[in-house]
Amino acid sequence: MKARTIGTAAAAAVAALAARDLLQKRHALLRNFPVAGHARYLLERIGPELRQYIVTSNEEERPFSRDQRSWIYASAKEENNYFGFGTEVDVAHVQGHAYLKQRTFAGPLPDAHDPAAPLPSAKVLGGPRGRAAAFRPASVVNVSAMSFGSLSGAAITALNEGAAQAGALHNTGEGGLSPYHRKGGGDLVLQLGTSYFGCRNADGGFDLAKLKEVVASAPVRAIEIKLSQGAKPGLGGMLPGAKVTPEIAEIRGIPVGEDCASPSRHSAFGDTDSMLDFVELLAGETGLPVGVKSAVGELGFWQELASMMARGDRGVDFVTVDGGEGGTGAAPRIFADSVSLPFRMGFSRVYGTFAELGLTDRLTFIGSGKLGLPENAAVAFALGADMVNVAREAMLSIGCIQAQKCHTDRCPTGIATQNPWLARGIDPASKATRAAVYLRTLRRELTKVSSALGVAHPSLITPDDIEVLNGDYEARTLASVYGYKDGWGRLGPELAEEITRLLTA
Ligand SMILES: Cc1cc2nc3c(=O)[nH]c(=O)nc-3n(C[C@H](O)[C@H](O)[C@H](O)COP(=O)(O)O)c2cc1C
Ligand code: SF4
Repeated sequence: MKARTIGTAAAAAVAALAARDLLQKRHALLRNFPVAGHARYLLERIGPELRQYIVTSNEEERPFSRDQRSWIYASAKEENNYFGFGTEVDVAHVQGHAYLKQRTFAGPLPDAHDPAAPLPSAKVLGGPRGRAAAFRPASVVNVSAMSFGSLSGAAITALNEGAAQAGALHNTGEGGLSPYHRKGGGDLVLQLGTSYFGCRNADGGFDLAKLKEVVASAPVRAIEIKLSQGAKPGLGGMLPGAKVTPEIAEIRGIPVGEDCASPSRHSAFGDTDSMLDFVELLAGETGLPVGVKSAVGELGFWQELASMMARGDRGVDFVTVDGGEGGTGAAPRIFADSVSLPFRMGFSRVYGTFAELGLTDRLTFIGSGKLGLPENAAVAFALGADMVNVAREAMLSIGCIQAQKCHTDRCPTGIATQNPWLARGIDPASKATRAAVYLRTLRRELTKVSSALGVAHPSLITPDDIEVLNGDYEARTLASVYGYKDGWGRLGPELAEEITRLLTA
């Protein structure tokens, strides 16, 4: 009898917990996996103690270590994101570890503790080429390309609203501009991949009239032509027919239920020369800044692009360099692991190609590839990046637990799935706040670290301000490691003065 009473009470308690989990909106995992989901939170809480006796350290996991994820989770929730007792990194021996060299004295600096402090780009996007809709991006940290299709509608809505709250740009990804990109009011970068989704004709070619319609219908601030992405360069995507729902078919402009293979290369242009004509056509017709996104392989393309731009009559307004360590919804392992250069190597080669011709103040450099962590972002800025894009870190901020099932449509947190039951776990409003807080926190950390280095803005960090460990007994500056010449990685004097004045006025 007693056992039965205890059993009934336990069942009632579990039912009550399940009801609470299903109704709450803070944790997508608990909404999708009531009761069972608590095991993950318990393990996360007692993880540090357990790990002293079990295997992996806080630094070991990839793509993002436990420490990196914890920092993003805590930042997004506005919890204490400090670490106690000192670093867990073996700073004297980890090959490639970056040391940022603080300065003892400095001139006027912005308030590094103000959570609402602005951190705009040091460059006006499209300004040097005189685009009608040129503008200074309000945030140096923006949301990277991820399509509706690879992410759920709820996740896209949360990221869009989060970007709006943080004053950041939200890149649509190559899947076209969906209704979810319009829900939060965030400013957009419209991405054009090889399938021109949303802007294509019946044969799959590019349709300028449709592009102009799309641009006019939403707050699109810039256009990004996707040449490749770090996790799968040179490989066209495949959207299986089963995933081509009527909604996705409508947004992408493709038939319902049929496989949709994206070609590996563009049909609207076939070489650098015709690509620049295409860029000028889009910029001329829309007034928007136009750039290209690419991973870095052979350098011939970049050398040709820079030398054609040196003539001054045509040019991209920005380049987004994606590191080979970048993320994807799905890619063959060989592409994810081995095709294209990692960010620091690839970016420095591209930057150097433009620097050789004195062009670096003429365009905006954007970086991506695990740059949503302050130390990686600081290195990117020191190498000459003007802005960073964050994809997986933004996903982590809205609840991704790095289950790495994005390619299966079974994402447990409802982020990378089209399964309506799983996607229902996400409450876009509360996740939007998390994304916004994370974006603002990353900006604040960059302001703090810039101040420590004695400068007002991360674009003023130079490749001599950071050294990386090389072997056990030597550290070399970024300038020396990546072969930077005098003045490379630095803004021209006018841009440097302008951004310092803007931030310290
Ligand atoms: C789920 C997912 C979908 C993505 N979709 C696109 C895309 O449509 N177009 C694109 O250029 N990059 C895409 N990417 C790559 C990201 O935009 C970004 O370049 C890359 O993940 C590196 O940034 P990260 O290290 O901050 O994730 C995607 C990445 C992820 C994780
Ligand atoms: S499948 Fe895993 S890694 Fe991918 S978004 Fe979902 S929780 Fe994150």
